[in-house]
Amino acid sequence: MIDSNVADFLIWAKQKQTRIADILNEALPATSIAPQTLHEAMRYSTLNGGKRVRALLSFAAAEFCHTPDTVAEAAACAVELIHAYSLVHDDMPCMDDDDLRRGKPSCHKQYDDATALLVGDALQSLAFEVLSTPQLCSNANQQVRMLNILAKAVGSSGMAGGQAIDLSSVGAKLSQTELETMHQLKTGALIQAAALLGAASGSQQQIYAVHIYAQNIGLAFQVIDDILDVEADTGTLGKTAGKDADNEKPTYVSVLGLELAKKLADELYEAAIHALAPYGEEARRLRELAGFILQRSF
Ligand code: IPE
Ligand code: IPE
Ligand code: MG
Ligand code: MG
Ligand code: MG
Repeated sequence: MIDSNVADFLIWAKQKQTRIADILNEALPATSIAPQTLHEAMRYSTLNGGKRVRALLSFAAAEFCHTPDTVAEAAACAVELIHAYSLVHDDMPCMDDDDLRRGKPSCHKQYDDATALLVGDALQSLAFEVLSTPQLCSNANQQVRMLNILAKAVGSSGMAGGQAIDLSSVGAKLSQTELETMHQLKTGALIQAAALLGAASGSQQQIYAVHIYAQNIGLAFQVIDDILDVEADTGTLGKTAGKDADNEKPTYVSVLGLELAKKLADELYEAAIHALAPYGEEARRLRELAGFILQRSF
């Protein structure tokens, strides 16, 4: 990407990040409504920054497929709510036991374990409430298909399943294939759903291209996350650096080493870009976003 293109992408991303923050703010229950602590903790765990990569994927795929803004916004909101829930649970002592998230105390540190558990439950439920808003789509079948995509992506054959494999793999030596399965489920599945929901109005060919793109960039996302855990510092990450090694988690770095992990991330990026080869300007944001995911520093 040349500089003026990067600047243009960053302006686009900033606009979308501001938009999703407003949408999340509106979707989340007010702290004046009971149970107030739960609502406050839900807002604390969602409106606390984050790169909003999943929302950006929904928006970029929606631009590619001319999906209506209202549908794209609901998709972006739903995937960020699910993501926020996954982080709250991921940080709990029974999982990764991480005290820091997005530069602030993790939900269970700021509140308590029971609140963190309920925050996750309620955020997940809110995501499906948002996506099931009556008449969100002009075609009810399309809306049911979207709900189905999200439900599959976060359940036991998606994100929750991947987290289960992650926890049962502590201290274990995984093959690269096993590691790929774990990462595709725990992180790739929601990233794919984010892109596919944004692509709701696309043609079959477009949806296929988004699927292949997201499969590759979703895996690349977690490979980079594993690399950053080793190479970045806690201040930059906003979460505890070196946590994977401390927790004896098998990662792309522990299995392949840093150099091969970086090479793999590059290859996955190339494969994601290749999936968009038949398309021009309409796929521009998806391409730029892939570059952003590859080059990010936190
Ligand atoms: C972190 O995700 C958790 C993973 C699935 C690797 P992000 O790096 O997208 O976290 P935020 O949303 O920007 O904080
Ligand atoms: C988290 O993976 C995946 C989900 C939350 C589903 P990590 O455990 O690697 O995420 P971080 O590094 O804590 O953000
Ligand atoms: Mg984890
Ligand atoms: Mg973690
Ligand atoms: Mg990590």
